[in-house]
Amino acid sequence: MCGIVGYIGEKEAYPIIIKGLQRLEYRGYDSAGVALLNGDLNVYKKKGKVSDLHAFAKGKKLSANSGIGHTRWATHGEPNDENAHPHVSQNGKLAMIHNGIIENYASIKTELLQKGYEFNSDTDSEVFLNFIEDIHTNTNVSLAEAVRLALNKVVGAYAIAIISLEEPDLMIAARKGSPLVVGLGNKEFFIASDATPIIEYTNEVVYLDDQEIAIIKDNNLTIKNIEDVEMKPYVQKVDMELESIEKGGFDHFMLKEIFEQPKSIGDCLRGRLISKEGKLHLGGIADYTNKVLNADRILIIACGTSWHAGLVAEYIFEEYCRIPVEVEYASEFRYRNPVVSEKDIVIAISQSGETADTLAAIELAKSKGATILGVCNVVGSSIARVTHAGSYTHAGPEIGVASTKAFTAQISVLTMMALMIAQKKGTLTESAFRNLLVELDSIPDKVAKCLDLNPQIEIISEKFKEAANFLYLGRGYNFPVALEGALKLKEISYIHAEGYPAAEMKHGPIALIDENMPVVFIATKDSSYEKIVSNIQEVKARKGIVIAIVTEGDDVITGMADHVIEVPHVHESLMPLIAVIPLQLLSYHIAVMRDCNVDQPRNLAKSVTVE
Ligand code: AGP
Ligand code: GLU
Repeated sequence: MCGIVGYIGEKEAYPIIIKGLQRLEYRGYDSAGVALLNGDLNVYKKKGKVSDLHAFAKGKKLSANSGIGHTRWATHGEPNDENAHPHVSQNGKLAMIHNGIIENYASIKTELLQKGYEFNSDTDSEVFLNFIEDIHTNTNVSLAEAVRLALNKVVGAYAIAIISLEEPDLMIAARKGSPLVVGLGNKEFFIASDATPIIEYTNEVVYLDDQEIAIIKDNNLTIKNIEDVEMKPYVQKVDMELESIEKGGFDHFMLKEIFEQPKSIGDCLRGRLISKEGKLHLGGIADYTNKVLNADRILIIACGTSWHAGLVAEYIFEEYCRIPVEVEYASEFRYRNPVVSEKDIVIAISQSGETADTLAAIELAKSKGATILGVCNVVGSSIARVTHAGSYTHAGPEIGVASTKAFTAQISVLTMMALMIAQKKGTLTESAFRNLLVELDSIPDKVAKCLDLNPQIEIISEKFKEAANFLYLGRGYNFPVALEGALKLKEISYIHAEGYPAAEMKHGPIALIDENMPVVFIATKDSSYEKIVSNIQEVKARKGIVIAIVTEGDDVITGMADHVIEVPHVHESLMPLIAVIPLQLLSYHIAVMRDCNVDQPRNLAKSVTVE
């Protein structure tokens, strides 16, 4: 969802900004622009890609030591050149970029119009900027103070950066509900939506908290909140390595991240799971284990793929901890006036840690007294900071819009959480607990074996790249995997796909089966195996095409299915970590064969920070 990059220092700003915007492209956007301070205020902005902006700016006045850049994901005003950011204030002296939504912009715009302001765009952001200009010029306060006063009046979410023609050594940034990071270099500062545009230059960052303002003036950083209270900057070291955000020889970030899963799951388990000693420890939630095991209910809140991970967790927590679990779409939960009490534990799952619906759902649950645990991938993200406690998934930056390694890392963390609680609660025998730890420890190697299936899956993909629809079916722990497989396919190949509990076929979807319908069954050896064999026979009886994910050595389904993909055996509660791998590869290859933009699928963003 949009990207922000700012630079002020002794280097040339433009190359840093444009490269930073390229590193943020994965977040999804429709326009891009830069503003540069070089005696003048030069603004270049266009609908389209960062590369289009770069071509447009070529040959223009680009030399500057201060500048801001933006990739826009439109919320107010269609994607076009005028609505792209940066916006320039009416007096031509201020330039601003904005990520988020100003919900009361219409009333502010009415006031400004009555004062004679004119607008060049349809955006809420331009209104926001002229509101700041109006305060700055009419109350004769500093620009930083004008920003602070404006932030006390606007309603909504923002991450902003502002520069001023009159004060070339000043850059102001602020955030509420949208992420913003300040990078501290040697006589230079960086502003960005996340650390990826910064780590090439410095690993010292300050993650701004909500309603905090960063004021960079004369090479000094001051941070204050909107109540004008100065905050001591909490400088952190980013442990993200540059190559972790490069493609590393893969054609796409998504493929790289699929192949990273043995490592990312291993990183997630490391230091927490010591299977040989039967030890499992999640420090991040250690203080809350008693609260969880005494909870009346666990509410899991998430969106998209993270919601699918939550569905897997529902099966695991109920199986092992015997605690009722409800999995909620954050976007539904936040608007339906849910019944929540202080006896409830909420687990919020989010790769980006910035999903607006999930953030809002957390705030609602918190306001009703629930204890909130977070499962996030991005360190220092908003969700990580508003939850009472939590565990990071440590999957490393996930650049591809389609979530893959974050999903398996989320399930790994949730499984460890459930096993830790179950052991403490005594709802799992010590031997069963230790066996599951050993099985969990074996997952990275078994995922690596699944990746060896890549050539076979590419061949299968070739046969189905023109399919108009897909069905994905699974039972028990594999039902959420069916949903995830369908989401992966549709979001990157644009083929319509539906995931269903296999037993539900007879309640309607079986009407869809004909010789043109590929049906993917996740049919590994588990407690419902015989049932799913019958479901496969029902589909075959209606000439459906069956692609079956089976446990290696299966000699029953191999005789029925049109295509069989054999995966290693693992306890059924851990099978989602295994069975999803071939489905990720299937969707990837089909999308590539359809010339889709795998890493930045149309209409999608990596982090949905608007509602
Ligand atoms: C998954 O492939 C999608 N990109 C999307 O459904 C994503 O899972 C969802 O937007 C939630 O994002 P989050 O995990 O960052 O909160
Ligand atoms: N609401 C602003 C606009 O529509 C910013 C959108 C964004 O976050 O990119 O321009």
